[in-house]
Amino acid sequence: MKDVVNVGIVGFGTVGSGTAKILLEQANILKKRTSTSINLKWICDMDITSDRGFHVPGQILTTDINDLINDPELDILVELIGGIEPAKTFILRAIELGKHIVTANKALLATHGFEIFEASHKTGVEVGFEASVGGGIPCIKALKEGLVANNVNTVLGIMNGTANYILTRMTLEGLSFDDVLKQAQKLGYAEADPTYDVEGIDTAHKLAILSTLAFGQKIGLGDIYTEGISRIKPVDISFATELGYNIKLLAIGKKNGEGMADVRIHPTMIPKDHLLSQINGAFNAIYFIGDSVGKVMLYGMGAGQMPTGSAIVADIADIARDITKGCPGRVPALSLPFASITPPSIKPVESVTCKYYFRFTVMDKPGVLSRIAGILGNEGISINSVVQKGRAGGESSVPIVMLTHEAQEGKVRKALKEIDSQGFILDETMIIRIEDMKALEESSHG
Ligand code: HSE
Repeated sequence: MKDVVNVGIVGFGTVGSGTAKILLEQANILKKRTSTSINLKWICDMDITSDRGFHVPGQILTTDINDLINDPELDILVELIGGIEPAKTFILRAIELGKHIVTANKALLATHGFEIFEASHKTGVEVGFEASVGGGIPCIKALKEGLVANNVNTVLGIMNGTANYILTRMTLEGLSFDDVLKQAQKLGYAEADPTYDVEGIDTAHKLAILSTLAFGQKIGLGDIYTEGISRIKPVDISFATELGYNIKLLAIGKKNGEGMADVRIHPTMIPKDHLLSQINGAFNAIYFIGDSVGKVMLYGMGAGQMPTGSAIVADIADIARDITKGCPGRVPALSLPFASITPPSIKPVESVTCKYYFRFTVMDKPGVLSRIAGILGNEGISINSVVQKGRAGGESSVPIVMLTHEAQEGKVRKALKEIDSQGFILDETMIIRIEDMKALEESSHG
């Protein structure tokens, strides 16, 4: 029995500090729970002098990554620097030397993850990545272990706190996207460059990881259709509210009966009475439907120093338990053994069907509505309802909002291209997909 498990953290920023604080302050309880001492042996960063707000023994701080990677006593390397390089090189070198890995690096896993998992499979080390999705929410462990009895063919998630914070304030306060974003940046809630968060890329990284685990396919960032929230206007929010929906940046992963994965990120209208519709502010939620268990929703803080540190330490504790019991690799990193994960089988987005919200910006003149309806009809797109508000004083354009019945994305794109080329259309038509939660839940439940 190994009585000490040595850990080295590379990256002493927000999450690195949270992780170190938990390891140092909760050492006793972690020892009881894992039957071993988890020893924080190294912390590596370019900046080892700034005050992080808690006491760190000076001798564990270094600016040289080789102190960690070449330390024969180091059992676990915790990578918290983010980005692709040098994180990837550090991880692969550590794996080669037989060290277990814990990382929060969703961008790396969604783009080069299979190289890392293959390398770890070869050397028999563990790779923990609970913190890469949903911050402190234990969704990876839930999928791999708690739901192991299920075919989880539906994974939905609100997995970006910044985007959800912006949409929530737009909904509750009627503010514009730009105004909320500016305020969020001022308060430090949103990054100076918010592209990854608001354009859905961060959410796509997370969906790539979750759908790989749930569907047993090597799903990467390039497989996921991604649209962000920056085009949403207050007028869309107020129509959605009036029609009984909230707009969320939703990650959608569904595997159909033929094994094809439909994986998408886009603004989505969700009925107001559904639990996912009620996730507000910076919170995240992840919603699975398993064929035995039915619906499961996990809710919590998707980012932040201590929540993310909590997930990192959970992975460290899992590995420490496996090391002390002599069974590293007990739970395969991707739930299935690496060799059983298949290449991706992706349903093309053009063949996806759902209900739609269209907002046309048109000249208010006779014949416009019937022309739009005619073009939609030619593509077999059936209209469920139409809302047109009267012209406000002095305006030359009016919005016409239509909700459709179930329609195919390819046909919708073709019809909208034709509609948007008409002279009476004054701005690009806004489309928002509607998730029919009732139908989804009925069709997914085993
Ligand atoms: N930037 C992310 C968010 C957290 O706003 O939720 C890290 O993935």
